[in-house]
Amino acid sequence: MPKPPSYPSKVFLNGEILNAADAKISVFDRGFIFGDGIYEVMARIGGQFFYREAHLSRLRTCLDKIDISCNVDTLESEIPRLLELSGLETADCLLYIQVTRGVAPRQHSYPRDIQPTVMMYAWAKTLPDINETPASVVVQKDYRWSRCDIKMTSLLGNVMANEFAMAHDCYETLFERDGILTEASHSNVFFVKNRIVYTHPANCYILDGITRQVVLELCEKLGIEVRLEGLPVQDIPNMDEAFLTGTSTQILAIRKIDDHVISGGRVGPITRKLQEAFLDLKNTGA
Ligand code: PDD
Repeated sequence: MPKPPSYPSKVFLNGEILNAADAKISVFDRGFIFGDGIYEVMARIGGQFFYREAHLSRLRTCLDKIDISCNVDTLESEIPRLLELSGLETADCLLYIQVTRGVAPRQHSYPRDIQPTVMMYAWAKTLPDINETPASVVVQKDYRWSRCDIKMTSLLGNVMANEFAMAHDCYETLFERDGILTEASHSNVFFVKNRIVYTHPANCYILDGITRQVVLELCEKLGIEVRLEGLPVQDIPNMDEAFLTGTSTQILAIRKIDDHVISGGRVGPITRKLQEAFLDLKNTGA
């Protein structure tokens, strides 16, 4: 059984590092009222944040997309102190960053002159070298909005989809929009057919995962052909391999999609090759 998640000991909130129990925000925070905010999650592996710049750059881009002004460089400079006070100077961990628009009387349109609410915390987490156990997944209609490129805190659609997966004893739910598989509730999805790797293009229907980008780079390096195409649901039974990618999911083979067993329920050769190349990258510090 996986260990249930616990609260972090320290939280960075608006410039201060506090005991988690003392970190309080207003009930009028627009993050609480509207889910009006952006978040980011990155993993520290062997003393370095994996693809740190890519994560921070996505945070900047997403803040720009929803017109929240926040200095990400200042935020970044606070990370070492947060890790130190959290007792995680040398530990592998996950860092969560959240920036909301801030506090204002409830009204959909927002005032321009408010301070964003900025929060970060880290917790110890050692990711496996390779995520070994292939996952079962289910498919559900994508009932989310059409700006899935924004890494926003309003995750109700993703939460509902992940609950659906749990209720079916599965790890993930793959979203299907107009018959095309897009991504999953907290990860991106890839397919392999005839040694060609397929994944949905990075448009407004998926979050362009950093792990997804790393996998595309690895495919190029390894000479694996890639097609940035969304796959129709009816092609699922014809797939040789399928896998998920995400910051904590890393590269995870899919063994079953609904009732269709993929790759004989085992990790396929291309997935394995990418997992090994990904491990090399982690070991050499990206
Ligand atoms: N989830 N798609 C969705 C909808 C996601 O929420 C995530 C990440 C990804 C993969 O992105 P990345 O490779 O950058 O982690 C794709 C994070 C980890 C989360 O919500 O906890």
